Amino acid sequence: MSEDGDRMEPQPGGKMALEVRIRRFNPEVQPDPWWDDFAVEMEPNDRLLDALHHVKWYQDGTLALRRSCAHGICGSDGMLINGRNALACKVLVKEVAPKVTIEPLRGLPVLKDLIVDMEPFFDGYTAMLPFLVNDEDPPDRERLQSPEDRERFDDTTKCILCACCTTSCPIYWGDGEYVGPAAIVNAHRFIFDSRDQAADERLQILSDKSGVFRCRTTFNCTEACPRGIKVTKAIQEVKRAVMFRRF
Ligand code: FES
Repeated sequence: MSEDGDRMEPQPGGKMALEVRIRRFNPEVQPDPWWDDFAVEMEPNDRLLDALHHVKWYQDGTLALRRSCAHGICGSDGMLINGRNALACKVLVKEVAPKVTIEPLRGLPVLKDLIVDMEPFFDGYTAMLPFLVNDEDPPDRERLQSPEDRERFDDTTKCILCACCTTSCPIYWGDGEYVGPAAIVNAHRFIFDSRDQAADERLQILSDKSGVFRCRTTFNCTEACPRGIKVTKAIQEVKRAVMFRRF
């Protein structure tokens, strides 16, 4: 879909013209961000990441972006695409042609072009103890749980830490202390795991002023998640768990 909402139908076997407008930033060149426009010819089913590669490899090698798997798994190419957070490797050229605007994720310091500093994001994530805590001696084989118990947190296991949810949250933009949706999603993944023993500790952390009650239920996070995780629902479940637990 174009910025104007016009879907461009590809010509059979033909390439499509795509105008790529990118918000650039390089503190070694100038203190303020600027915009650059690039014209590329791409196959309709190429990904937007392919178009960015084309720009970087053939037009401007100074363009900085993160990517790795190119298949929606590693979570490293989250960016603001026509005003919405998405993974560049999951957006097709035909969905955005003839014109696309690309910016770095909001709410995190921009280091260069489309690369943001992920440290504040991962600080919130690691504060949630994102690993199984169980002090009992391990059984001879794996720690068993029922399919129903596994289902309880299945959705939140899908997170790839791309930061698309957290950086689409207006509370996160304005409050540097809020841990953000992705941290809560990863807390949820362990809080509701029947094998884990640190739920109270996580809920105590999330009851703090920087925790789960900062959420104002705007649903931006759910719309932004490229994995389809029901982020707002998970946050609501964690809110209820905080309210009904005794510390
Ligand atoms: S490059 Fe890995 S998710 Fe897009």
